[in-house]
Parts: sequence; C-alpha cells; structure tokens
Amino acid sequence: MFKKMITILLSLMVLAVAIFVIYVIETEKTQFRINAKWVDYKPVANPDSKVLVVYFSRSGNTELMAMEIAKHYQASFVHLEAEDYRIGFRGWINAFKDSQTQHAVITPEKVDLSQYDTLFIGSPIWWYSPAPPVWQFVENNDFTGKNVVLFNTFNSRFKQEYINEFKAKVETKKGHFVKHIYVKRERMTRQISTEILLEQVRKKLDNLQHIK
Ligand SMILES: Cc1cc2nc3c(=O)[nH]c(=O)nc-3n(C[C@H](O)[C@H](O)[C@H](O)COP(=O)(O)O)c2cc1C
Repeated sequence: MFKKMITILLSLMVLAVAIFVIYVIETEKTQFRINAKWVDYKPVANPDSKVLVVYFSRSGNTELMAMEIAKHYQASFVHLEAEDYRIGFRGWINAFKDSQTQHAVITPEKVDLSQYDTLFIGSPIWWYSPAPPVWQFVENNDFTGKNVVLFNTFNSRFKQEYINEFKAKVETKKGHFVKHIYVKRERMTRQISTEILLEQVRKKLDNLQHIK
C-alpha cells in the first residue's frame, strides 16, 4: 500500500513538471510569434551612426528592446545567433542547462567595432544572469575606447552580482561600462504588453541623453 502511494505521488510530481514545462514552452512560442510581427519592420540605420546595438534573444522580447534602441539612435544592429537556444523544447532545455555558463557558440563571433563609440549589448536574463551568448560576445571582442550599455529583459529578478561581473568583464576588454538598463516583464501569467514594454524602453533611453 505504502509503495503504491509513493508511486502515485511520484507519477503526479512528474506529470506536474511535464505540464509546467509544456506551458512555459508554449507560452514562449506564442510570444515569439507575436514579437516576430512587431519586429517585422527593421529600423533604418544612419550609416554615420556611432552607436551599435548587439543582442541575443530567444523569444523576441529583448529583440523588441534592441529594435527600439536602434530606432532611437538610428543605429545599426547585430543579432547574435545561437543555434543551441532556438525557440522550442531542445532550445529551452539547453538554455536551462547552460544558463550559468559564460560560453556559447555564437554567430557572428566577432564584429568590426571600429566605426562605433557606443555599444548596446542585450540579452534575456537566465538564472539571474545575462545569457551565455553575450558573455561570449564580450570574450571574443575588444572594446578599447568604447562605451558599453548592457540591456536586459527578464520576468522577475536578476542578481546585481552578475551585472557587476559583466561590467568587470567589459573592463578587462578595455571598455567603459556606462549603465545597465532593463525592462521587467513580470511573471508569465501576468506579463506586460508589448506597448508597455516599448514605452518603458523609450523612458530608459530618455534618461541616457548624454549618449549621442
Ligand atoms: C532558461 C531560462 C532562465 C530564465 N531565468 C530567469 C531569471 O532568473 N529571472 C527572470 O526574471 N527571468 C528569467 N527568465 C525569463 C526571461 O529572462 C524573460 O522571459 C526574457 O524577457 C526573455 O527574453 P527573450 O524573449 O529576448 O528571449 C528565464 C528564461 C529562460 C528561458
């Protein structure tokens, strides 16, 4: 009898985890589809702009933020592709598994930064930290003489210690870390709308008036 109860209990727990994972992955897919419509337009860059936006995004929220920043500065942008973390089950498992590492396979690995004074580097927060692709991007590039702004979207929480570590990493690459800006989207069951997300990004940018 006791054995049977334990088996039932364990089966219920496995079922609950499976339902949770399916819910999260389906929610991400829906967001990805909605966000893809919003970022269908691509901001037109001014070829003389001194600002470059480099970002990684799985489900498109950080991409929306990146596009709004690029639009604001008429800046060029680079999307860091990371095949391992594509939207869907496999990508989610990999993201979950790797969220605490600072290494990833990214394309492009390096970017010619010679034209730019300021870089905006963006990613989602994974397990309280910026996601591995942006750490890898910093590792691969040299930021001598560049201002660097880190931007993130996340649901509920990041840890400042990881932001400090990111800043330190940018500094080892000779960059000047200016600021961390972010949008908190709230928990999955009550996330802010795209309009509010974009509105919040615009407000953050208004406070960065010293960057031209
Ligand atoms: C593996 C994984 C770990 C996450 N960890 C956190 C976390 O620690 N804190 C948080 O607030 N959000 C966390 N999130 C949620 C994302 O940061 C959030 O949904 C983000 O806006 C997604 O950005 P994207 O659409 O650009 O990929 C996590 C998401 C994934 C996939």
